[in-house]
Amino acid sequence: MIYAAARKLLFRLDAESVHEWTVEQIRRVQEVPIALRLIERICAAPPSPVKLWDLTFRNPIGIAAGFDKNALMMPLLAALGFGFIEVGTVTLRPQPGNPRPRLFRDPARGALINRLGFNNDGADAVAERLCRMGFSPSIPLFVNIGKNRDVPLEGAPEAYAQCAEKLAKYADALVINISSPNTPGLRELQRPEHLEKVVSAVPGRKLVKIAPDLDDAQIAEICDVCVKRADGMICTNTTATDRGGLSGKPLMQKSTEVLAKVRARVGRDFPLVGVGGVFTAEDVRAKMQAGANLVQLYTGFVYEGPTIVKRLLR
Ligand code: FNR
Repeated sequence: MIYAAARKLLFRLDAESVHEWTVEQIRRVQEVPIALRLIERICAAPPSPVKLWDLTFRNPIGIAAGFDKNALMMPLLAALGFGFIEVGTVTLRPQPGNPRPRLFRDPARGALINRLGFNNDGADAVAERLCRMGFSPSIPLFVNIGKNRDVPLEGAPEAYAQCAEKLAKYADALVINISSPNTPGLRELQRPEHLEKVVSAVPGRKLVKIAPDLDDAQIAEICDVCVKRADGMICTNTTATDRGGLSGKPLMQKSTEVLAKVRARVGRDFPLVGVGGVFTAEDVRAKMQAGANLVQLYTGFVYEGPTIVKRLLR
């Protein structure tokens, strides 16, 4: 109820300015241990553990990449009840992203449209931050990596490798992002000849994050590379529109269909994360039934507010 009132006000303001303001407030709150503990109590969700690889997740619901691009909000995200956190996308060098405005709401559809273009502080700054935190979030951490806009496709394996090298030691898994629609050419890396090289260049445990805009033949090719070379997949990123990547409710069905096709191709035991349009417990169930071991959300968090994890798990 409180969030519904706050949302009315916040939704009148520019979407990215609200996000930046939120990051600032969260950073302040994180400096006050008692405030974090209070939030933790308010948001405490019933445990619903999931074991995957050698990790235990207290519940299967994670915050998707893009919300905490620079690893600034992990203590708060843990306090809100998420079962795991994905930070990023992080690129090797810092970059400003596309010109503003570049983040838009579509409240009538429960959607967001973004063309941010990997604005982030770069691998060194994020690695230093993670190092200082001393592996502090008590929950599994995924770090999502991408390539800088000016890196040509042939340079991609090296760019991902260098970025991974700086970040891998702080992450329980790296996520190879080859599916954002806002870096020209990035999704070409989903073609098997590129994908094989990029995935092979990244050390350690790694998941490949794919787009929802793929036909059956493309899905099959990608899956075959991933089963051989990666440790899991994330289905899916935003869907490409002429204004940018569309997320939220209009993405739910499409991303779940892709997830189901991926599950059919990779077999029962390959770890899959389902993401795209999760707002309700029904949506979580649908992702699980389509084959997800874990689920993530971003847009649902913006629309439903900070107690969404607790409500989903109940
Ligand atoms: C994203 N997403 C995203 N994904 C990614 O791999 N790297 C990124 O940097 C971002 N950035 C980003 C910014 C914004 C504003 C949004 C809304 C989304 C995609 C996100 O992780 C997720 O895959 C999709 O948004 C679908 O999930 P939801 O939002 O429908 O729950």
